[in-house]
Amino acid sequence: MTKFRKLLAGGTTLLLLALLASCAGEYPQSSIDPRTDFAETIHSLYVTVFWWTMVILAVVWIVLGYILVRFRDRPDSPRPRQVHGHLGMEVAWTIGPALIVVAIAVPTIQALFDTQRGDPENAMLVDVVGHQFWWEFRYPEQGVVTANELHLPVGRPVSLRLHSADVIHSFWVPMLGGKRDVNPIVRRPEGEAPAYTWIHFTIREAGVYSGQCAEFCGASHSLMGVRVVAQSEDDFQAWLADWRRGDPPPDTTAAGARAAPDTSAAAAAAQGPPTLQTPGQEPSLEPAETDPVAAGRQAFLTSTCVACHAIQGTAAQGSVGPNLTLVGGRTTIASGWLDNTPENLARWITAPADVKPGVLMPGVAESGGNWPPTNLSEEQVRAIAAYLSSLR
Ligand code: CUA
Repeated sequence: MTKFRKLLAGGTTLLLLALLASCAGEYPQSSIDPRTDFAETIHSLYVTVFWWTMVILAVVWIVLGYILVRFRDRPDSPRPRQVHGHLGMEVAWTIGPALIVVAIAVPTIQALFDTQRGDPENAMLVDVVGHQFWWEFRYPEQGVVTANELHLPVGRPVSLRLHSADVIHSFWVPMLGGKRDVNPIVRRPEGEAPAYTWIHFTIREAGVYSGQCAEFCGASHSLMGVRVVAQSEDDFQAWLADWRRGDPPPDTTAAGARAAPDTSAAAAAAQGPPTLQTPGQEPSLEPAETDPVAAGRQAFLTSTCVACHAIQGTAAQGSVGPNLTLVGGRTTIASGWLDNTPENLARWITAPADVKPGVLMPGVAESGGNWPPTNLSEEQVRAIAAYLSSLR
């Protein structure tokens, strides 16, 4: 008997320790740790419903316990009174649950409307564009475009306007609020607005918030992460300024030659197909031994990279792939899948499909999407990785 008690005590202690340990970890994608008004609305609804369920649970258990004890079978107990049909009880168990459903539905519908309401006067607008398999963020008022890491100011209302460039995705950064479908914009009758979806929120705390595409969108759906970098207004303005500065040419005499960068989607569409270097033709690598960053810059700007990627301040203005301005400052690459190190950048440039099946970017030796292999040499790949890492 004492042995059994010891075992029981040991088991209970272990269980409690395991429970405590499970509270100690960090949960970057917790949906019960709200950091915006939007997430708070959902969370308070969840908490309210949870506690009402606990009250119902307690009532049910108390009544059940009472019945089990009071009406338990005893050797000489008489046969209980048999009830066939009871109008009062039938009304009660119909009205009771109906009232519970109403009690849950009213605040739920209220929360639905609350979280769809924007602040068009003060909110900062950001276009969120889902791609297979990465995220694009356009700041139309600021003329800034970035990818996979969304920079936002703390304490200012933000309106995310979402749509997809291909299939349906779903934008979900749990600590900032619920998920929202990201739909392809379908053709509509003239005068009718495109079917964007919206998220409106104000972030309360600076930090880096992780999220994930939450709608199956193809082979690399599970590798389609997202990060939101919430920063103070000053830091955010500094980031915008850094972005606008971009990577101006080292030689100032060449500055006048480059086209005025315009990041709007319309301008990008109007640009037409970029002129490409014939694959296989060696981009010249003049200062390779001296400065890998300069060599990488040249290799990048003279290879097929520029057909899809843009870097502010350079001639690279492609809009098919992620905008790489300040890419060196991102914490991850490949939309949250690899740490942002020169080694990982080189790995990614060499064979992106090995990291992310279905990716549209070609590798050194394999085509991707409609693009032929880049035929970059190992040295060029390393130089481009060094150059991209330097963009911060
Ligand atoms: Cu995009 Cu799943």
